[in-house]
Amino acid sequence: MATAAGNGASAGAAATIDGGIGVAWHDDGSIVFAGPVDALPWHPTIGTPERGCLVPGFVDCHTHLPFVGWRADEFEARLRGVSYKELHGGDGGIFRSARLFAAASDDEVLEFSRPLLHEMATHGTTALELKTGYGLSVDQELRAARLARRLAEEARQTCVVTLLAAHAVPAGMSRQEWVRAACTELIPEAGRRRLADAVDVYVEDIAFSIEDLEAIATAAADAALPLRVHADQLGDSGTAAAAARLGARSADHLNHCSPEGVSALAGSATVAALLPASTFFLRGRPAPVRSLRDAGVPIALASDANPGTSPVVSMPEVIAMAAGVYEVPPLEALTATTVNPASVLGLADRLGTIEPGKRADLVLLEETSFAQVPYRPGHDPVVATIVGGELVPP
Ligand code: NIG
Ligand code: FE
Repeated sequence: MATAAGNGASAGAAATIDGGIGVAWHDDGSIVFAGPVDALPWHPTIGTPERGCLVPGFVDCHTHLPFVGWRADEFEARLRGVSYKELHGGDGGIFRSARLFAAASDDEVLEFSRPLLHEMATHGTTALELKTGYGLSVDQELRAARLARRLAEEARQTCVVTLLAAHAVPAGMSRQEWVRAACTELIPEAGRRRLADAVDVYVEDIAFSIEDLEAIATAAADAALPLRVHADQLGDSGTAAAAARLGARSADHLNHCSPEGVSALAGSATVAALLPASTFFLRGRPAPVRSLRDAGVPIALASDANPGTSPVVSMPEVIAMAAGVYEVPPLEALTATTVNPASVLGLADRLGTIEPGKRADLVLLEETSFAQVPYRPGHDPVVATIVGGELVPP
């Protein structure tokens, strides 16, 4: 039986309690006791499974929900040799998802996204990020944030909304024109209306520059919103170091992060959010996990759930890909999918570990060893998910 250790982002491993863990919580879902089962203050009501492993609920700190529609044909085209950048340049990719989003009604977007949130819950995700980014205009981005807030209110999970203020340069606008609109209209308006909890930027040669990132970081700070950054995914642009310098909560992807980028992250409070599923689907270069670990950079693992590069919503699947593609050992993956992403989302004081005062967000796994999760990809290891003390129905 295992619980993740520590408070806030940690580069350390998980602590385990063998021989039976008991967790008790109040009606409001807050934990009052976590420790050896013999010391439980009252009789178990949810159950006493013969075997298994109880871990904190998974926290998915990087998703692109809400969106509407899949892009499996692009996945097939990539397998025939067309590159992600070519699809992006040819009206596909992010632009296609933006067209689908603009053409769909609010209800259609919600009806598409809702079952994915439920699927996440049944696979053990008890808190997650929702991100805009398929709006590509001030009005549509604000609409995406509003729909994300709607989903967050309905969902059993704790959800945090990130405004991906710069994802692709909208047609008919220059990069500079969009960054100006994002900084002077979109971010201030989202801040005023409390539609977002953080701001994100996609820095890439097909998207935005470090200069754009700096402008957006200033606008985010003015709106009192923390920063997240898509960094060095398709090439090394020095963005990991910029994210660290700007005090971003996380630098995400990091496939092409340089040794200088690793050092900069090590000297900062920025968490490395790694997304092995998109690396797997793009057959991309793996992030420098060993260097990050050796430098003591805290690592989070997330799904990057999106219709283009990662149609994956299951954290057990992500943990399996983290093992297969990134060589992340099981208990390190547990820390990277619970306490560390909770800190990326600013939720570490409320969830991410099993301890008194935190929310009873728990996952019961069928085997006693957490290693079973990455060991059997494709097999669902989750017996039960408990969110805020309540069992998620299958
Ligand atoms: O995180 N990198 C940019 N955004 C997404 C992909 C978005 C898409 O293709 O729809 C990502 O991989
Ligand atoms: Fe992403």
